[in-house]
Amino acid sequence: MSEIAKLELNGQTYEFPVIEGTENEKAIDISALRAQTGYITIDQGFKNTGSCTSAITFLDGEEGILHYRGYPIEQLAEKASFLEVAYLLIYGKLPTQAELDSFINSITKHTLVHEDMKQFFEAYPAKAHPMGVLASMVCSLSTFYPESLDPNRSPEAKDLTIHRLLAKLPTLAAWSYKNAMRHPFMYPKNDLDYCSNFLHMMFAMPTEDYKVDPVISSALNKLLILHADHEQNCSTSTVRVVGSSQSNLYSSISAGISALWGPLHGGANQEVIEMLEKIAKDGGDVDKWVLKAKDKNDSFRLMGFGHRVYKNFDPRAKIIKVACDEILEKLGVNDPLLAIAKKLETVALEDEYFKSRNLYPNVDFYSGIIYKALNIPTEMFTVMFAIGRLPGWIAQWKEMTEGNEPIGRPRQIYTGATNLNYVEISKR
Ligand code: ACO
Repeated sequence: MSEIAKLELNGQTYEFPVIEGTENEKAIDISALRAQTGYITIDQGFKNTGSCTSAITFLDGEEGILHYRGYPIEQLAEKASFLEVAYLLIYGKLPTQAELDSFINSITKHTLVHEDMKQFFEAYPAKAHPMGVLASMVCSLSTFYPESLDPNRSPEAKDLTIHRLLAKLPTLAAWSYKNAMRHPFMYPKNDLDYCSNFLHMMFAMPTEDYKVDPVISSALNKLLILHADHEQNCSTSTVRVVGSSQSNLYSSISAGISALWGPLHGGANQEVIEMLEKIAKDGGDVDKWVLKAKDKNDSFRLMGFGHRVYKNFDPRAKIIKVACDEILEKLGVNDPLLAIAKKLETVALEDEYFKSRNLYPNVDFYSGIIYKALNIPTEMFTVMFAIGRLPGWIAQWKEMTEGNEPIGRPRQIYTGATNLNYVEISKR
């Protein structure tokens, strides 16, 4: 028998259906709440609110489980390629060899960006943060492909827009870095795979040969897979809400990039390294910084710790921690920041404050150390996250547009002044 939730309000009883997902997650469906009772719910930060049903990603924060389309993240990170995972997220199934070949071929064909866009890059100051540049550039793509403005034009047109964006994001990302360095842009090399091509555009120079290190490109492949989707997080919810107004893919993803930029979300990977550097510069006294993080009068937080949904461990952090040790060893990197990170983790994990609040290292805690070992500049860390998250954002946008979801428009409880009469400025 299906469950019913009962609400008693002012002596009346109202009934609401309970819906259940395929992993037995339950929700009280309050779609009819306001119509029936005149009341709304308040849930700041949407801590208890499901904004949609979705068949893309399942995560269980208590058990530390993360699945893309039913497949455990551990298996995908170990065995799959990033574009294979992108196909899985966007089209809902693992591709056959022929499907994957055709997907890769289409993406490879679209890696160039319009030459006119180079002028946009050149107009940015050298110290422009690459996330600001990336968000603007992605939105600008819509001006070069006006046919993308109608997201529901045809399935073929939608696929073309999706493939273009997947193909061009690494080019735009690498060029935002080259521009900051005032180095010449490197064009994509289409005989390279997705990760190697990005590394080529980041690190090659016209004056010398650059050979992509397979250790580095395989580490990048793993990191991008681990970031590829994470259900209704801040940036993904942003993409879905913006897209719900039938805004095009490029503008919706640009909004997602802006949401990701914040230090409480994707920007945390940059903040982690900056925090570790600050601790090292300050003499490496980890206990002192843990005390600061616990002090309610101090705004300092341990960056890379805590998560809205993972309250036991972040399965991505577990994989990354192992990968981090392997990569540093293979590359022969001995980073003193890693020692501080490990000490910080040990101290925090044994501390009552962190234990009682279920604060554990999240995916960003170790990813920054790997990116640093791969010679990715700190300001590019969140850009790397955006490249990884792109297939998830696209899959969520596609699901939302195809599910005919209504425009995202929450309500509020008004707490401002009431019934004032306008007073002319001379009398105020
Ligand atoms: N350091 C110290 N204390 C913390 C931390 C932290 N990193 N994170 C949470 N807390 C404390 C809060 O002060 C609060 O304490 P209180 O109950 O005594 O008031 C309690 O733990 C709960 O914290 P909230 O902020 O209410 O938890 P919320 O779920 O809203 O926030 C968040 C989650 C934003 C990730 C938070 O843990 C944080 O700021 N972490 C640091 C930034 C970070 O690493 N972000 C990356 C997240 S992963 C990602 O986006 C990919």
